[in-house]
Amino acid sequence: MTKTIAVVNQKGGVGKTTSSTNLAKRMAARGLRVLLIDNDAQGNSTRTMFGDEIPEAIIKAKDNGRLTVGLSNTIQLYYGEENAEPFAFSEQLSVFGSSKHLAEISNKDIIDAGFNFKNRVQQLDRFDYIIIDCLPSFGTLMTSALMVADHMLIPTTLDDYSVKGIEDLIDAAMNIKKNLNQNLGVLGIFCNSVDGRDVLVERHFHQQLLDKFGDFILNTRITQSKKVWEANALQQSMFEYNPRSAQARQYEQLVTELLERTG
Ligand SMILES: Nc1ncnc2c1ncn2[C@@H]1O[C@H](COP(=O)(O)OP(=O)(O)O)[C@@H](O)[C@H]1O
Ligand SMILES: [Mg+2]
Repeated sequence: MTKTIAVVNQKGGVGKTTSSTNLAKRMAARGLRVLLIDNDAQGNSTRTMFGDEIPEAIIKAKDNGRLTVGLSNTIQLYYGEENAEPFAFSEQLSVFGSSKHLAEISNKDIIDAGFNFKNRVQQLDRFDYIIIDCLPSFGTLMTSALMVADHMLIPTTLDDYSVKGIEDLIDAAMNIKKNLNQNLGVLGIFCNSVDGRDVLVERHFHQQLLDKFGDFILNTRITQSKKVWEANALQQSMFEYNPRSAQARQYEQLVTELLERTG
């Protein structure tokens, strides 16, 4: 059965995109069939996957230079062609990429858009895992992802707003669970960009998270390194960029933890 994971946090810059692309690639490398859906009009995970050479299936330039969407654009999962198909990045990994056009969905009726998205994503049942990289705000796009997801994966940084932000996020998600998607649950919360030098302060915020969210907190933490940023800029996973780095190991451990938790 396909397991659908929404990578969510309404806060920007916490590592949703970096985690989505690294997890998708590492799960695929382990032989799983994975679909990555870029559900953010900024198209960051699309760019991390493809660089400047975005396939025409996702976005094409018309004769006069105007950009238009192809059949592998995420917008097709909301209001699009019946024959929408993800772009096959490799044998194991397919992608629905996004572009600025996706922002239009924010003006659509939330329930209508959400049910379209849910129905179409549920038809993509040939994948083992679907990973949805969400935008950093509440609204139609994030709600739609939570309407179809079985699991929420929440990356967070360790700072004074983390706990409150995650509380708000889980409240919103439980509302969606009650009314629109009874399958939704929290898969886990993990700390990203952990500095490791400011031990006392980080321990304090980590303890706050543990006190509040207990078993939801995953063991894996991703430490901060410029290498992560460099790998993203080169369209590589941490494992491709530097397989011996601490972060490559940590992402590998995160995959293991997530596979264990999702059975
Ligand atoms: N562990 C890390 N160490 C250093 N930089 C990171 C790390 N994780 C993410 N980044 C960088 O932080 C920025 C925001 O990450 P991103 O994954 O785009 O966050 P989000 O999708 O939540 O907005 C990016 O420039 C990314 O390269
Ligand atoms: Mg992002």
